[in-house]
Amino acid sequence: MHAHIQQRIQGIINNLDQLPSIPDVASKVLTMVNDPDVAFKAIADEISKDQAITTNILKLCNSAYFSKGKEISSIDRAIVTLGIKEVKDIVVVAATREILNKIIVGYDLARGELWKHGIAVAVLSKRIAVLKNQKAIADIAFTGGIIHDVGKTVLALFVQNTFREILDLAQSRQIQFSDAEKEIMGFDHQEIGEKILTKWKFPEVLKSIVRYHHEPQKAPAEYLPIVSIVHIANTLCLMAGVGIGADGLYHELSDAAIKTLGLTNREMEDLYGDMPRVLDQASGIL
Ligand SMILES: [Fe+2]
Ligand SMILES: [Fe+2]
Repeated sequence: MHAHIQQRIQGIINNLDQLPSIPDVASKVLTMVNDPDVAFKAIADEISKDQAITTNILKLCNSAYFSKGKEISSIDRAIVTLGIKEVKDIVVVAATREILNKIIVGYDLARGELWKHGIAVAVLSKRIAVLKNQKAIADIAFTGGIIHDVGKTVLALFVQNTFREILDLAQSRQIQFSDAEKEIMGFDHQEIGEKILTKWKFPEVLKSIVRYHHEPQKAPAEYLPIVSIVHIANTLCLMAGVGIGADGLYHELSDAAIKTLGLTNREMEDLYGDMPRVLDQASGIL
């Protein structure tokens, strides 16, 4: 382990200013949606305060993936037509695009690759949730899919300098890339991701998704199904070569996750076989 690298990362975590920020509206809307006493109008007003994000949100509402066919020209309309959960997902897409849609050097991800990967994992996560009768959490699975690798945006710089070492360790010991990350740098991208979500005031369930997406069996019992969904979606996307960076080959599919969701071999094959359609849908959001 490199003590100086660990110290530098610790320094970043301790100084929240150094972690990426998102527009306030995203964390506010996430909290409001989960509060049954909050009126739709209050949420619409909150979103409308941010002009830039409102423009982006309306564009997304009318995109191939989210559109219900009717032109949407206001946030009020969007909530009525698409539903509050869908609008919340759209807010997260609009709020995180800038952070995730860049070059992630250390992981060998070209500009836009991490974003593309996140959106594909989001679309597939939602699909798995619906397939396994977990429709109530499909929106959270979608949000979790988008941001599951957000920690990479911070760790990338350090991974770049230690890349060879991390890869050699993963190879020689046959362990996951993220385990090797932790051993060499003292942190892995899941831990950093969780810190970022804490800064953003995102709810516990999303923090769990980010924290445990490579080891779903360790997630708190109440979040096991949703973490398993994102884990499987992530694995299938990596197998299909979507957002496959340097770490993609060193990733395990958790049997516990498959069992938790009761996914059959047939269903797994169908999901994988349907990847071209998932990617096509995802491209409607990019
Ligand atoms: Fe990851
Ligand atoms: Fe991923």
